[in-house]
Amino acid sequence: MEKVTVRDFLKKKEKKEKVIMLTAYDYPSAKIISQTSLDGILVGDSLGMVVLGKENTLKVTMRDMLIHLDAVVRAKPPQLIVADMPFLSYETSTKDAVKNAGLFARHGADAVKLEGGEEMKDVVKAIVRSGIPVMGHIGLTPQRFLRIGGYRILGKREKEEEQLIRDAKTLEEAGVFSVVIENTYSDVAKKITESVSIPTICIGAGPYCDGQILVIHDLLGLSDFTPYFAKKYIDLRELIRRAIEDYISEVKEGKFPGKEHYKSRDS
Ligand code: KIV
Repeated sequence: MEKVTVRDFLKKKEKKEKVIMLTAYDYPSAKIISQTSLDGILVGDSLGMVVLGKENTLKVTMRDMLIHLDAVVRAKPPQLIVADMPFLSYETSTKDAVKNAGLFARHGADAVKLEGGEEMKDVVKAIVRSGIPVMGHIGLTPQRFLRIGGYRILGKREKEEEQLIRDAKTLEEAGVFSVVIENTYSDVAKKITESVSIPTICIGAGPYCDGQILVIHDLLGLSDFTPYFAKKYIDLRELIRRAIEDYISEVKEGKFPGKEHYKSRDS
């Protein structure tokens, strides 16, 4: 598979082909993904919750992100690698935003993602001007859960719906190559998708978007809880637990290590 670029994302929208992404945070999962036809990997700040056991994404730092971005980059996946800008790495000033996005690019990210709508226009413009592609993220933006009032669905009221459409259009004008829409009603996501020419990539926003993204731990059954909009394709947690129990039993019963697992002088 050839390296996926941001242009491929835009072409997919034109051809009405779905853009399909997953999050990944480490070398083994990025290696597995590299053998699939997935379009993009997001090294998401969900890392903080699903891998590092932090309470929320406000606690994720640039240092956390860089360690895990490096691990994904080392797997050399052909997929587009998008690095998520953590809380306070881009809101403080356009200068900080360009500096941190640049750091991600230097570490091998093909693009960055940041949360927010209209209010992020200047930040997006500055990063794009520096030559780094930006993915937007609107709807439920988890880094703003305090202001939003929890992890709730957005777009119920007409005012909220209009704001979401305005956010997507403004981000497109500012230069984003695609936009994640998180946790809104499917008809709202459809209207947003029809009002922009960049691909919309949904999570918890229904089937009418140009693409889909999931947190890999939800898909694999490794999360503490699976949100209603995610699908567990395999229960890895249970499979891993059983494998560990088998290992414990076999050691206790003297079945492991078996003859094939060690060398003795008389063999
Ligand atoms: O950090 C993340 O995993 C995300 C996705 C939910 C889009 O931002």
